[in-house]
Amino acid sequence: MEGRDKPLGSDVRHVLSVDQFDAPLLGRLFDRADFLGQSVRDARRHHTIGNLLGSDVLYRLFYEPSTRTYESFGFAAAHMGMKVLGTQSVEFSSVSKGETLEDTIQTINAYLPSVIVLRHPEEGAAARAARVSQVPVINAGDGRGEHPTQTLLDLYTVHRHFGRLDGLNIVIGGDLANGRTTNSLAKALGMYADVSLTGISRPELRMSPHVRARIEAAGVRYTETSELFPALAEADVVYWTRTQSERLQEGQRGAEPYVLDVPQVRRMKPGSILMHPLPRTTEITRGVDADPRAVYLTRQMQNGMFVRMALIEWVLRYTD
Ligand code: NCD
Repeated sequence: MEGRDKPLGSDVRHVLSVDQFDAPLLGRLFDRADFLGQSVRDARRHHTIGNLLGSDVLYRLFYEPSTRTYESFGFAAAHMGMKVLGTQSVEFSSVSKGETLEDTIQTINAYLPSVIVLRHPEEGAAARAARVSQVPVINAGDGRGEHPTQTLLDLYTVHRHFGRLDGLNIVIGGDLANGRTTNSLAKALGMYADVSLTGISRPELRMSPHVRARIEAAGVRYTETSELFPALAEADVVYWTRTQSERLQEGQRGAEPYVLDVPQVRRMKPGSILMHPLPRTTEITRGVDADPRAVYLTRQMQNGMFVRMALIEWVLRYTD
C-alpha cells in the first residue's frame, strides 16, 4: 500500500520542532485541515476520507499525562480509517524496569507501525527517538522543549479567526520559562511578518533568554511585563497557560499565577480571542468560559484534531 512506500531511514518525515515548517507549508496544511474537518463534520462526505489511511497504524507512546493530545491524535487517525494503538501507562511496560527510550522505540518499530506519536518528560527525547526509528516520530511534547503539533493547532485557530497571521498583536501569559507550548508558539511566530508579542509573567517565569533571542532575530517585536494592562486590552490574541508545576526549578516555586476572571477578560477587545492549550488549573476562572472570545474549550480544541489529521496525512503520504 501507498503508506508503506514512503522512504525509510534518514528520509523519514519526523515532526520534531516548529523549525521544520514555513508559512507556505503551514498554509497548505491549514487548507487541508479545513477540508478534512469539513469532511468529518459532514456525514455524507465522511466516507470520502473514512478510509484515507486505512492500511496504516498509528502508535501513541506517552510517558506523561495527556487528555487532548493523546485523544485527538487517536480520533484524527480513526476518522481517516487508521488503526490506533498506544499506551499512556508506561509504568506497566518494561520502562519501569529501566528499559531505555531507544530500546522501546526499536521494539515498537519491530511491529511495523506507520507512525509513532511520542510524549516524553525530557527535552530532546523526540529527536533521540527519531534517530533509532525507521518510521516517523511526531513530537507530542518533550519536557520543557517543544510541542509542535500544539502550535499547529494554535496557529490554525488564529488563522481561521483572523484570516491571517501577519500583523497581529499577541499576548502570551503564565509560565513562559517551563512551558513548551509557549516556546513553540513564540518560535513559530517568527515565520510571520510584523508580529508583536508581549509576555506576561512573574519575573521568575520569564521566557528563557535563548528563546527570546531566537524570536527577536526572526523579527518578532517582543516585550515583557508583569502587568496585565494595557497588554490584555490591546491584544488580538491572548494565549494563557498554567504554571508547569511538574517542571518548576529552584526559585520558581511560589510564583503566584495570574488569574483571568470576568473583569479582566471583559477589557479585551471585541473580536479578539482568548486561547489556552489546556489543561487549566486556576488561571482562567470557569466564569470566563461563556465569553464568546474564549475559544479554548471549543474551536481551539477541535481544531487540534483537524490539523493533526492533515499532519498525519502529510507525514505518511510524503506530499508537499
Ligand atoms: C500542554 C503540554 O502538554 O505542554 N498540554 C497540551 O498538550 N495541550 C500544556 C500544559 O500541559 O500546560
